[in-house]
Order: sequence, then C-alpha cells, then structure tokens
Amino acid sequence: MGEKEKKEYSKRILLTGGAGFIGSHLVRRLVNRYPGYQIVCFDALTYAGNLENLRDIEEAPNYTFVKGDICNFDEVKRAFADYGITDVIHLAAESHVDRSIKDPFSFAKTNVLGTLTLLQAAKEFWEASPEGYSGKLFYHVSTDEVYGSLALDPTAEKAPYGADTFAETTPYSPHSPYSASKASSDHFVRAYHDTYGMPTVITNCSNNYGPYQFPEKLIPLIINNILNRSPLPIYGKGENVRDWLYVEDHASAIDKVFHEGKPGETYNIGGENEWKNIDLVRELIRITDRLLGRKDGESESLLTYVTDRKGHDLRYAIDSAKIRRELGWAPATSTEEGLEKTVKWYLANKEWLERVTSGEYREYYQQYYGKDED
Ligand code: NAD
Ligand code: TYD
Repeated sequence: MGEKEKKEYSKRILLTGGAGFIGSHLVRRLVNRYPGYQIVCFDALTYAGNLENLRDIEEAPNYTFVKGDICNFDEVKRAFADYGITDVIHLAAESHVDRSIKDPFSFAKTNVLGTLTLLQAAKEFWEASPEGYSGKLFYHVSTDEVYGSLALDPTAEKAPYGADTFAETTPYSPHSPYSASKASSDHFVRAYHDTYGMPTVITNCSNNYGPYQFPEKLIPLIINNILNRSPLPIYGKGENVRDWLYVEDHASAIDKVFHEGKPGETYNIGGENEWKNIDLVRELIRITDRLLGRKDGESESLLTYVTDRKGHDLRYAIDSAKIRRELGWAPATSTEEGLEKTVKWYLANKEWLERVTSGEYREYYQQYYGKDED
C-alpha cells in the first residue's frame, strides 16, 4: 500500500482473529460504521477461522484480509509496515476450554507468545514512527475467566446465584489452561503499558453467544444437536453458572472502549445475565422445538448428563458497573430476544452449520482467494 492510500484512512486497524466468532461481528460493525478507517483482518484461519462469516463485507473498500499468524514475528511486522497500522484490536486466540485441557501447549503458544509477538511488533513499529505512541492504541480482548470461579449459593432459586461478582479489582485466579493463558497475555499487555508506555486497554468479557459461533461451544452445540436429534451433553449436574452476553453487544462495547476508554485501564463487559447450564439448555430446547414445529419439550429426551469437565469453574458473574458508569455502555439485547435471534439464525443457516461441522468451510479461502491455504 502506497503512502497516499495510507493517508486516506484516519485509522488503520489490525484486527486479529477477525474471521472468528466475535471478531467477525466486530469487523462487520467497524467496516460498516467507519468508512474512514481501514480494517485489516489478520487471521491464521485455524479451525475456528471462517471467511464465510465475512462474506457480506468482503468487497467493502475499507476491508482487507491478511492471512497471517500472530506467532510469526515477520508476518506481523510486515502487516504493520504494509498497512501503516495505527491501532491493534487483538482477538486472535485459542478460545475453547475443553481443547485447552487436551492441548495446553497450543494455548500457551497462541495466546501468550502470539500476544507477546504482536506487542513487540507494535512497540518496534510505533516507536520508530515520527509521532511515537501518540494516536496509537493496543486493545486486548480478554475474558472474565481470568478471575477464576465464584461460589454458588445453593439456596438461590434464581439469578444472581451468589453474592460475589468479578470486578476489575478482583485478583486474577485462573484455573483452566485457557484462562491461565489469557491471564498471562493480559499481564504482558499491562507490562508493555507500564514498562514502555504503550497505550493499551484491556476488556474482560463474559460468555458470548449469537450467530457464527463455532458449534463446539455450548449454545450452538445444543442447537445443532437438537436439530439433528443427537444427545445434548450436560457436564456434571448442569449446575454451573455462566453470565451470557449477545455477541453484538460485546462488539458495541469494544467499539465504545476503543473510542472512549482510557489507556492503561481495564473494563469488564457483561450482561449481568446468569444462567445455570441446565436451565439455559432447557430454554434452548423450548425455543428450538417451537421453531421446528416439534411438540413442546420433545427434545428433553435428548438431555444426557456426562462426566464433568476437569476443574470445571462453578460460577462466573460480571460486575460491569465501571463501563456502564464511565462510558455509558449498556447491552441492547435482552436474553429473550438474543436467544430467539440466535436459534432462528442457526435454523436459517443449516448450510453454514453443515459446512462447519463437516470441515467444508475451509475450501472457501481457496475459492475466494484462488490459492491454497498454506
Ligand atoms: P474463535 O475461536 O471463534 O476465533 C478465534 C480466531 O482467532 C479464529 O478466526 C482463528 O483463526 C484466529 N486465530 C487463532 N490462532 C491464531 C494465530 N496464531 N494467528 C492469527 N489468528 C489466529 O474465538 P472467539 O470466541 O471469537 O473469541 C475471540 C476473543 O475473545 C478471544 O481472544 C477470546 O479469548 C475472547 N473472549 C471470548 C469469549 C467468548 O465467549 N467466546 C468471551 C470473552 C472473551
Ligand atoms: P463453553 O461454551 O465451552 O464456554 P466456557 O467453558 O468458556 O464457559 O461452556 C459453557 C458451559 O457449558 C460450561 O459450564 C461448560 C458447559 N458445557 C456443557 O455442559 N456441555 C457441553 O457440551 C459444553 C461444550 C459445555
């Protein structure tokens, strides 16, 4: 890209992990809302990356895709130089707890070393620019799982299922290899802020759900299995609690923090929307059976209690008062609306589900870009 084209955009954002679930919603939002920004989607297209998630915006003039690995310093440095990157929004990660239990090393590599590689490339590129760190931001997208697990009040019949919540001041106490790797990456981001003065911001968000989520995560897995009349695996007793947020509300929060957040700060993002897994799955059965024209509760017979996840965190609950108070953000989607929209999307996009579960989606890169994945 020449100097002239670079100047046409007021911001040139390297958005890592943009072909994944949350990343694709964020890319779409930023490309559509900010024609004056160039959005460079930088993604290695692992099993979780799917360019079909971005089909509707791939021809937009301010969107560019770069296939690259955040662990590869040369590839990352080249992207900074080619596009004159002014900001990073970093979502690329290995993101599934069950996979991290089986293969912790790939989580340390991508989430820790990959984040460090990106930080170092940003440092070198921005420090060498005439204006230094001025007007730059490294935004790290993280999870509430870094805070560990909260107690569950056995007498609570409805949410909240305990008195405690995760605030920005809660000490880190990760348990799974996934959360340990994300916690470590958060610490490196803070270290680059505190040591080198890099403008950074971190957000820690609760569980997301919505369209384009890979069907290994609870909600799309359950919808897909109801559709196929396959068993619905409930880990342990189904008593574990998660705090759910509709993915577009996460994208709106990132947009807000990117523009108005204070460098050096951390913001928690969440819907204050706790569900026991079993209650959430029963709600999904109710909605999906209705939309499929099945008898009410017909798919309840598919519920299957299976061996619990190792080290299964009991309860997550986010205190999002800071972002609400300081930046005026609030989720726009009620759970009722979000779950209905989500189930409808998967039912209307059975082909997407089939291509993802069969692995066919990986051919799209070749069709669109006319070359093999390397
Ligand atoms: P995802 O697994 O759907 O997508 C991850 C993306 O990163 C994929 O497109 C993948 O190809 C890409 N990627 C993986 N390794 C890469 C590498 N080495 N180089 C470049 N790209 C690579 O993940 P998601 O659920 O969209 O989560 C995105 C981010 O948000 C993650 O950092 C995750 O920790 C965080 N987060 C997720 C949730 C959630 O509920 N899903 C909640 C809070 C925070
Ligand atoms: P998941 O979607 O993997 O997100 P996370 O582990 O990051 O919270 O799981 C959400 C909850 O659902 C978690 O408590 C584990 C549970 N779960 C099941 O009971 N069955 C399943 O098949 C899966 C994937 C998850």
